[in-house]
Amino acid sequence: QPAAQSAAQSAVKPAAEPIVALTAYTAPMAALVDAHADLILVGDSLGMVVHGMPSTLGVTLEMMILHGQAVMRGSSRALVVIDMPFGSYEESPAQAFRNAARVMAETGCAAVKLEGGAQMAETIAFLTSRGIPVMAHIGLTPQATNVMGGFKTQGRDESTWPAHLADAQAVAEAGAFALVVEGVTQALADRITDSVTIPTIGIGASARCDGQILVLDDMLGLTGRVPRFVRKFGDLAADADAAIAAYAAAVRDRSFPAEDHVYR
Ligand code: KIV
Ligand code: NA
Repeated sequence: QPAAQSAAQSAVKPAAEPIVALTAYTAPMAALVDAHADLILVGDSLGMVVHGMPSTLGVTLEMMILHGQAVMRGSSRALVVIDMPFGSYEESPAQAFRNAARVMAETGCAAVKLEGGAQMAETIAFLTSRGIPVMAHIGLTPQATNVMGGFKTQGRDESTWPAHLADAQAVAEAGAFALVVEGVTQALADRITDSVTIPTIGIGASARCDGQILVLDDMLGLTGRVPRFVRKFGDLAADADAAIAAYAAAVRDRSFPAEDHVYR
C-alpha cells in the first residue's frame, strides 16, 4: 500500500471500520443478519436467488415491497435499504419518487437503492431533496447487462475510468449517502473510493472500499455456481441436503415420528 495513496484517501475521508452489509429477503434471514451487519439490502437479486428468475429484469415493485416488509419485521437495528427494480425509476424523477415513496411508506425502510451513475444524478437529487435517502450503484449494474454486453468486469480498459469516476462524482454530488461499486477492477475501485467523500460499498471490487456487501445466499453456500469474488463462508446447501436426506430416510423406515414427536 503506497503511503501517498493512504494519505490521499485519509484526506478525503477518515479511516473507519468497514461497513458490513449483506442482502436478506426474508424475516428469519434478516434476523440472523441483523445481529452482525450494519446494513441489510433487500436486493433485486431476490428475483434470481429466491424466485428462480433468469435475471433481475422481471422483478416487480410489489415483490420488493413484499420482501421489504418481511425483512423489516425480522430486523431491528441494521439500516434496511430496498432496491428499486428495473422499470420503476428510470423514466423520470417523478416516476422514481412515486415508486420510491411507496417502497418507503409500505415497508418503513430507511432508504432505497437504484442503479446508475451520472444519468441518474438528477433523480437522486430529486429524491434526496424530498426525503428519500438514496444509495447509488455503479460499475457493473445488473439491470443494464443487456446493453453492457453481459456480466463483464468494468475498468479493465483505463480509457473507461473517467466515465466511472464521473459517475461516482455525480451521484455523490446529487446527494447519495453511499455508493455500491460492483464488478470493477481493484485499481478502479480504489480510485473511486479515493475520489468521493461518501462511503463506497464494494462487491467484486476492492478490500479498500469503505464497506463490503455480498448476496447472503452466495456467501452461505446456498446457491450453486458463484462468481470469483464470492467467498463461501458456509456450506448451507450441503447441510440442507444432508438434513433432507435424513428426513426422507427416517420417514421411509418409520423411525420418524418417534415417541417424542407424537401427542398422547
Ligand atoms: O441486488 C443485489 O443483491 C445487489 C447487491 C449485490 C449490491 O444489488
Ligand atoms: Na440489485
